[in-house]
Amino acid sequence: MTSSAISPAIIRPDLLRDQFVAAMSRVPLSVAVVVAGAPEHRLALTVGTFISVSADPPMVLVSVKASSPLCKAVSTHRRYVINVLSAEQVEHSERFSGRPRTGRPYDLTAARWTGVPGEPLRYLEGVVAAFDCELVEAQPIASHVLLIGRVDEIILGAERPLVYWSRSYGIPSPLSGAV
Ligand SMILES: Cc1cc2nc3c(=O)[nH]c(=O)nc-3n(C[C@H](O)[C@H](O)[C@H](O)COP(=O)(O)O)c2cc1C
Repeated sequence: MTSSAISPAIIRPDLLRDQFVAAMSRVPLSVAVVVAGAPEHRLALTVGTFISVSADPPMVLVSVKASSPLCKAVSTHRRYVINVLSAEQVEHSERFSGRPRTGRPYDLTAARWTGVPGEPLRYLEGVVAAFDCELVEAQPIASHVLLIGRVDEIILGAERPLVYWSRSYGIPSPLSGAV
């Protein structure tokens, strides 16, 4: 605990919120693009809340703002893909969070997609890993919905993941000598 820490007993709720946001910005996140919807009307959204829930069976979680159209698409179609971005894919993160440097926000045609022959393309090319999921539970909590999915198919790809940390993008770098 540093000397700048404020006692929890005296902190005001608005200050606590600011501290929470500042503290969470110090926590590194992976960056993923979640894709869902009908083949002819798919939606994609950037998330940083992707975690593993269980390996037996393989299950994962993302937390998505309840007002996002992606929540409705996942709940309706029950299937979605979580594409974990590689270090070269900042552009995708920005596009699918609605703030691309060029082009239209949330434009799936601006990215290259791949998939199983005969099925709609749903994997982003160049990702570190992709998880094809069936929705198990959509749990509303505060402003968000926790989407828990059972993983049915996995794609393994590039090796260097993209990381979001301190409101910037980066790449993880191993510490020499550390296990
Ligand atoms: C690195 C990064 C991580 C994000 N993580 C999440 C997330 O986990 N859940 C979420 O709902 N939105 C997340 N967002 C925000 C969405 O991508 C998108 O910007 C937001 O839903 C747009 O909301 P608005 O239309 O209300 O502005 C993230 C954005 C970025 C750039």
